[in-house]
This record gives sequence, C-alpha cells and structure tokens, in this order.
Amino acid sequence: MAMKFALVGASVLLGGAHAMTVEDMLAAPRRSTAIVNPSGEWAAFSSSTYNWTTHKASTSWQLLNVASGNVSKAPFGSDVSEFVWIGPTDTSILYINGTNDDIPGGVTLYTADVADKEFSPTLVASLNAPFTGLKAAKTDSGDINFVANTLAWWNGSAYNEELATKARSSGQVFDSNWIRHWNVYMTEQRYAVFGGVLSGSNGTLSLKGEPKNLLHGIKDYLTRPETPVFPGADPGDYEISPDGKKVAFLTKAPELPKANYTASYIYVVPHDASSAPVAINGPGSSRPEAAKGASTSPRWSPDSKKIAYAQQNGISYESDRFQLYVATVDGNSSKITPVAENWDSSPQSILWNANGTDLWVISELHAAQRLWVVPANAEADFKPKNITGPQTSVADFALLPSGKALVSATSSWTSRIFYTVSAATTVDTKVLFSAHLVDRELATLSQNRTSNFWLPNENGDLIQTFVYYPPNFSTDKKWPAILIPHGGPQVALGDVWSTRWNMQLWAEQGFVVFVPQFTGTPSYSQRFTDLIANNWGSYPYRDLAMVWDHVEKNISYVDNDRAACAGASYGGYMTNWIQGHDLGRKFKALVTHDGKTHQEASYATEELYFIEHDQNGTIWDNYENYQIWNPIRHAKNWSTPHFIIHNDLDYRVVFDEGMSAFNILQSLGVPSRFLHFPDEGHHVLNRENSKVWHDHVFNWMRYWVGLDEELISEGIVHQ
Ligand SMILES: *[C@@H]1O[C@H](CO)[C@@H](O)[C@H](O)[C@H]1NC(C)=O
Ligand SMILES: *[C@@H]1O[C@H](CO)[C@@H](O)[C@H](O)[C@H]1NC(C)=O
Ligand SMILES: *[C@@H]1O[C@H](CO)[C@@H](O)[C@H](O)[C@H]1NC(C)=O
Ligand SMILES: *[C@@H]1O[C@H](CO)[C@@H](O)[C@H](O)[C@H]1NC(C)=O
Ligand SMILES: *[C@@H]1O[C@H](CO)[C@@H](O)[C@H](O)[C@H]1NC(C)=O
Ligand SMILES: *[C@@H]1O[C@H](CO)[C@@H](O)[C@H](O)[C@H]1NC(C)=O
Ligand SMILES: *[C@@H]1O[C@H](CO)[C@@H](O)[C@H](O)[C@H]1NC(C)=O
Ligand SMILES: *[C@@H]1O[C@H](CO)[C@@H](O)[C@H](O)[C@H]1NC(C)=O
Ligand SMILES: *[C@@H]1O[C@H](CO)[C@@H](O)[C@H](O)[C@H]1NC(C)=O
Ligand SMILES: *[C@@H]1O[C@H](CO)[C@@H](O)[C@H](O)[C@H]1NC(C)=O
Ligand SMILES: *[C@@H]1O[C@H](CO)[C@@H](O)[C@H](O)[C@H]1NC(C)=O
Ligand SMILES: *[C@@H]1O[C@H](CO)[C@@H](O)[C@H](O)[C@H]1NC(C)=O
Repeated sequence: MAMKFALVGASVLLGGAHAMTVEDMLAAPRRSTAIVNPSGEWAAFSSSTYNWTTHKASTSWQLLNVASGNVSKAPFGSDVSEFVWIGPTDTSILYINGTNDDIPGGVTLYTADVADKEFSPTLVASLNAPFTGLKAAKTDSGDINFVANTLAWWNGSAYNEELATKARSSGQVFDSNWIRHWNVYMTEQRYAVFGGVLSGSNGTLSLKGEPKNLLHGIKDYLTRPETPVFPGADPGDYEISPDGKKVAFLTKAPELPKANYTASYIYVVPHDASSAPVAINGPGSSRPEAAKGASTSPRWSPDSKKIAYAQQNGISYESDRFQLYVATVDGNSSKITPVAENWDSSPQSILWNANGTDLWVISELHAAQRLWVVPANAEADFKPKNITGPQTSVADFALLPSGKALVSATSSWTSRIFYTVSAATTVDTKVLFSAHLVDRELATLSQNRTSNFWLPNENGDLIQTFVYYPPNFSTDKKWPAILIPHGGPQVALGDVWSTRWNMQLWAEQGFVVFVPQFTGTPSYSQRFTDLIANNWGSYPYRDLAMVWDHVEKNISYVDNDRAACAGASYGGYMTNWIQGHDLGRKFKALVTHDGKTHQEASYATEELYFIEHDQNGTIWDNYENYQIWNPIRHAKNWSTPHFIIHNDLDYRVVFDEGMSAFNILQSLGVPSRFLHFPDEGHHVLNRENSKVWHDHVFNWMRYWVGLDEELISEGIVHQ
C-alpha cells in the first residue's frame, strides 16, 4: 500500500527552486528525535542550525503538539542540554543545565513546568562532573531516582577534566591491546552510570547524598566494565526500572579481551548500589547455550519485574542477528525466554506496551528501519509484521497512552518526519511534521526524487539498488551517473537522510546516483549478510559489476561515458578494488574516503574481531585470506583518476592506507588528489570541514565527467 507522505508543499516548490547546496544541507535544522510527555499531548525535540555568515551553530528546543502537529518554541533554550518529563504534573520536567556556577566542568539539575506562564526553574542539584544521559523514575516515597553517565576514575569517582591535575608528560604505556578506539586513545577513565536521589518532604527537591557509581561493584574483571559502551556512548545501554528501585545496564564481557570479542552482558543492580551488579545473561546464567554475543537495549517491563533485550549469538561477530529475549528477574536469578526466535530479523531497539503484553521493536528490512510489534511471549515461529513501510527509516519512537506510536524517522527527502501509527493492520499513518515542507534548504526534495529496482545475482539473491535523481530530471536526456559501493560492509545504505553521505545531495550535483545493496548488506536475510565473510572482493564486486552492466545496457538516460564511482570505508576498499579491475575502466573518476588499500595492514585497526571474522581467521594462521582480496596486489592496473581522502584520527582504517594509495597513484602517473583533516576521524563531522570535503569531492567528479571546467585550485598546498 503506497503511503504518500509528501503533501502539497514540496511539489509546489519544485521546478523553479534552486537545487539543495552543500551549505543548505549542512545549515538545515538537525532535529533530534521526539521525547513524549506522560499524557502523550506534547513531544519535545531539539533543533540545531548553522549560520554560514557567522560560522556558528545554534540549538533551540521545540514543542510538538501531538494532536494538531503544531510546533512551538519551548520556553527554554540551549542551556538545557537534555531533559525528562517527570514531576507532579504531565508537563513537569527535570533537566540538565550544561553549566555549573559552583563547580567548573560540572552540570546542574533543575525542575520546571513547561506549562507555567512564567518559566521559573528550580535548581535541585549541583553535580561535580559533566553528566549526560539522564533518566529518572518516581518512587513510592515521592522521591525521584535518577541515573546519568559520565567518565569515572579507576577508583569509581566521577571524572571532571577541568578539575583534574594535568600530567606533565603525554606518554602512555600499554600492556594489552585496544589501546585506542575510533578516534581517541584509551585513558585511565571509563564511562559509568551513576545513581542519585532527589528528595524533599516539603515539596522542594534536593540531592540526597552523592550519586553512586553503579558499575563499581563489579569485581574480578580482566577488562574494565564500561557503560555506556564506547564509542557511541548510547544512554540506551542502561535503564532505570519504572519503580525506581533497580537499574539494568550493559557492559562488554569483563572476563574477555575487548579487541577480539564483541560479547556484552546485561547487569542488574539496586539503584542505591546496596549490592553488587549481577549479570543476568552472563556465563552461568540461564541464557540459551548459543547466546554468547553482544547484548543491546535492556528495557524494564511496566511492572519492573522483567527485562526485554536483544542479543547476538556470535561471540566475536558484530553483524550477527540480534534475537529477542525476556528475562524475568527475581532477586539474583533470572529466567530467560527467547521471543520469536526464528524471526530472521535483527531488532535493536525495544519498548514494552503499557500493559506489558507486547514488545514494540525497531528492526531493519530492505535498508529501511521499520517498527514491528511482537507479543512478549511469542512462540519461536511467530512472524511479526512491519507496521511502517519503506518510505521512511525509523530513528526512534515513543508509545502514546492511546496505544499508538509516535515515530521519529528520516528519508532522502526529509531530514526529520514525525508521524503516528498504530499496531492495527490497516495503514493509519498520520503525519504531524515533515522537515521538507518547512525548511527552506530542503525545498526541492520530494518522494519522487528516488526509486529502486531489484536484480537477481549469480547466487539467485535479489540485489536492491536505490536510485536518486538530479534536479529537473527527465528520461529523455542523458545524465552523468555515480555508482556508490556502501560502507560497512555489513551496513545498508537505503533511502535515508544523512549529513555525511547524503545521496540526494549527490544527485543535486547533476548526477543520477545508484546505490546497490550488494551481498553482505544486512536487512535482507542473515544468510545474505553472512555470505560476505572471506568474500570481500568476490560477490560484492560481481554484484556491483552486474548492476553497472544493467545500467549501461538498459537505462537509456544514463550517459555511460560520464560515470564516476565513490565509496567510504568498506566502500573505499571496494573503490580501490574496482580501480584494479575491469569495472574501474568504466568510470572517469574514482573517490576513496578512508578506505583500505592493504589487507596485510589489517592489524593496525582496533576491533580485531571484525577483521578476524571477515577474513575468517588470524593473519598468522590464514595469511592467504588476507591476500586474496587485497587491493594493493592489483595496483599495476590502477589508471582511472582517483581522489583519496584519509583523516589523521581514523583509528579504524589507519591513515597510512590512504597515504599508500595516493603515493602509488602519483608514482604511476595517475591523475590524483589527496585531502586529509588532521582533526577528523573516520567521519568528517565539523561543518566547515564537511563543506571543504563536499566541495572537493563533487568538483573532482564533475570535472572528470565534464560538468565543471576546472579543478579547484584555491587552497592547494604547493610543493
Ligand atoms: C530547473 O528548471 C527550471 C526551469 O527551467 C530552472 O529555472 C531551474 O534553475 C532548474 N533547476 C536546476 C537546479 O537546474
Ligand atoms: C546569519 O547571521 C547573520 C549575521 O548575524 C544574520 O544576518 C542572518 O540572518 C543569519 N542567517 C540565518 C539564516 O539565520
Ligand atoms: C495550530 O496552529 C495554527 C496556526 O498557528 C492555528 O491556527 C491552529 O489553531 C493551531 N491548532 C491547534 C489545535 O492548536
Ligand atoms: C543554567 O545555569 C546558569 C548558571 O550556571 C543560569 O544562569 C541559567 O539561567 C540556567 N538556565 C536554565 C534554563 O536553567
Ligand atoms: C579517585 O581518584 C581520583 C584521582 O586520583 C581522586 O581525585 C579521587 O579523590 C579518588 N576518589 C576516592 C573516593 O578516593
Ligand atoms: C525544603 O527542603 C530543602 C532541603 O530538603 C531546603 O533546602 C529548603 O530550604 C526547604 N524549603 C522550604 C520552603 O522549607
Ligand atoms: C584475543 O586476545 C587475547 C588477549 O589479548 C589473546 O590471548 C588471544 O590470542 C586473542 N585471540 C585472537 C584470535 O586473536
Ligand atoms: C545478589 O548478589 C549480590 C552480589 O553477589 C549479593 O550482594 C546480594 O546479596 C544478592 N542478593 C540476593 C537477594 O540474593
Ligand atoms: C494490552 O494492550 C493491548 C493493546 O494495547 C491489548 O490488545 C490487550 O488486550 C491488552 N491486554 C491486557 C491483558 O490488558
Ligand atoms: C511492510 O513492508 C512491506 C515491504 O516493504 C511494505 O510493502 C508494506 O507496506 C509494509 N507495511 C506497512 C504497514 O507499512
Ligand atoms: C516529481 O514531481 C514533480 C512535481 O510533480 C515533477 O515536476 C518532477 O518531474 C517529478 N520528478 C521525478 C524525478 O519524477
Ligand atoms: C571460518 O569459517 C568456518 C566455516 O564457516 C567457521 O566455522 C569458523 O568459525 C570461521 N573462523 C573464524 C575465525 O571466523
């Protein structure tokens, strides 16, 4: 059933409107997901914009009226860094103020009521460190028990960088691996969840004692427990029970080395830390024998007696399927029951319905995150139905008292859409707000700027390819085209909004953009995902070649002589692989962002479990697995103009990989250009850096297909 979200606004604005520019995309409001109040009447979200005149970002808070879809300004500004709806009324809030007048580097907690005519907040706590990830529950006694996280010292105390004594030397010594991760080196400090109490018999709340580190009770570990798990620092890694008495959190398996295992367990601890945390699905628990991998999304049932969560089987396979479980927690023992265990899907975000009978989960299908409803006691063969479709990708959701969900989603044509949907089988989606109808920067976007097609590959699997069209597209002209091998490789790249590889923005440059979901992409089946292991250069390359062959032969509006190919991370690896093979000769230009050049350098990464899984073994026992799909072995064939980008703080795919590729290209006399950012990691996040990145990447492709007359010459470092 086709659900058209795009109403009048966008199509009216199409045509004469200018294309979305890089500046537009980067400046446009970035809206958080919606936080719904207890009565389901209001949802709050933050919005961050960028001004290219002042070169400053600014953040504001907005209130969405869930019944009407009206959006109004919240009565508070950006000094509220986050908040929860809690307190005496349905519009009471408890929030973190990111500043603290008394303790440099600390934060404060305030209470307020957003419905008050005069917004008059009350200071209730001064916290000695930069706490984030606030969650809270009211207890029987009327207290508010809260949890929040911050970095902690080895001895358990909260860490405040501004108050810490700075070491005189910058040297760091390590005795075991995992010395750095993502874009930072490990330090003494690890994230921890703290529990605090706000109480007040006279109605004015105040902090009772110091917040306690709830992880500190875990003893006898090999590697230090950490919640939320870095990187990501996702507050979804912990939750306070609705009665406020207990906290569930997950941490990587403390008895295993972190670099070569993904395993993590869910612990339960009393909120007052009166006894040590107990792992409900760790070794020796009642967990199913096969469930040894990473855990996610611990969520308390409304009666505070059960925890729903998802866990992978593979102990060192990060792209294994997440399976649903419900643990009944009784004292220190728990009974674990699998839920819909044969469902070939990978749910990673869970909420209980109000009466505790159903689990609402987000799981990806065909490159779009969907919402599903699963009975909490579903049999092994129960097949859940998606209640959202392919038109949007769900980022988060909340359940309303009406039993409906308020969904926060995105797509290539809207950076944020809020809509309600029910579990009913009839489609009853009601759109409350969509950015593309409101934001000037997104005015040219619409649902018909994208489509997709499916083609069977050599294994008989159907490969889905997403297509994005340039402004003023028509099929009776010939257009330059781009092939995008996505990253991961076990990450889908569907019809979603992104502030990094925003496929619609790429199309705005005058290209038709093709994004195939080649073998190894999640959300089609676990078997299909698993097939890429030890096959990096085989099935995915041949899928891409097959799709491109189809484009060349059957899509008349594509100009075969004006095509380019670009990829990041695994997509960069694949672009380097393509450069060494026949497909590389079909493109006028290539772009590799933070891609692998040299598989033998794999051990310079941090997550050894990833390479050891994907190359099916260690380099010492399985050397040929690291050799067979190694791009550098085919460097003699490199001849297509190639732009290499590699950032200094990329500790996943290290800088040297990009450096080697560029040196080889230059030595071979292949037209090539190199861009790096000393202050960026695997992703380019700073908007000023991102603008430079986009300007150069787009200019490189446009130049080599004849859309731009010159390569950018400004700001080039001359020798
Ligand atoms: C689309 O076509 C209209 C009408 O010809 C023109 O005014 C507009 O500039 C074009 N937009 C782009 C992005 O080329
Ligand atoms: C950006 O800042 C300038 C200078 O303060 C101001 O004139 C302009 O209106 C701002 N732009 C937007 C979109 O807010
Ligand atoms: C929503 O906002 C519009 C325009 O500001 C107003 O006319 C309308 O009454 C509002 N609706 C509700 C239900 O508040
Ligand atoms: C945040 O705290 C500062 C003092 O540290 C205060 O001046 C400001 O009014 C507070 N803002 C809010 C919204 O609580
Ligand atoms: C923990 O260690 C830090 C850094 O050495 C120190 O500042 C803090 O006082 C210690 N906490 C306790 C409870 O000893
Ligand atoms: C209420 O109690 C708090 C401490 O719990 C105290 O700081 C405050 O002054 C009291 N307020 C009144 C109005 O008594
Ligand atoms: C995993 O890490 C441990 C400790 O660093 C090491 O002993 C073990 O050999 C590693 N396993 C693999 C497969 O690398
Ligand atoms: C649960 O285990 C903890 C830590 O082992 C212990 O301190 C506590 O007394 C136990 N609680 C119960 C109810 O058995
Ligand atoms: C629980 O709620 C669901 C929908 O919200 C409803 O279908 C079901 O009948 C309820 N079950 C009980 C036991 O109340
Ligand atoms: C469920 O997904 C299918 C396949 O994408 C889609 O056709 C269908 O409309 C979706 N169902 C709902 C209720 O959105
Ligand atoms: C999308 O719809 C608009 C307005 O209806 C139309 O002008 C445009 O050509 C369509 N674009 C595509 C790619 O079909
Ligand atoms: C290698 O592949 C085999 C067969 O699929 C599997 O049993 C084994 O666990 C894999 N080894 C590693 C280290 O991934």
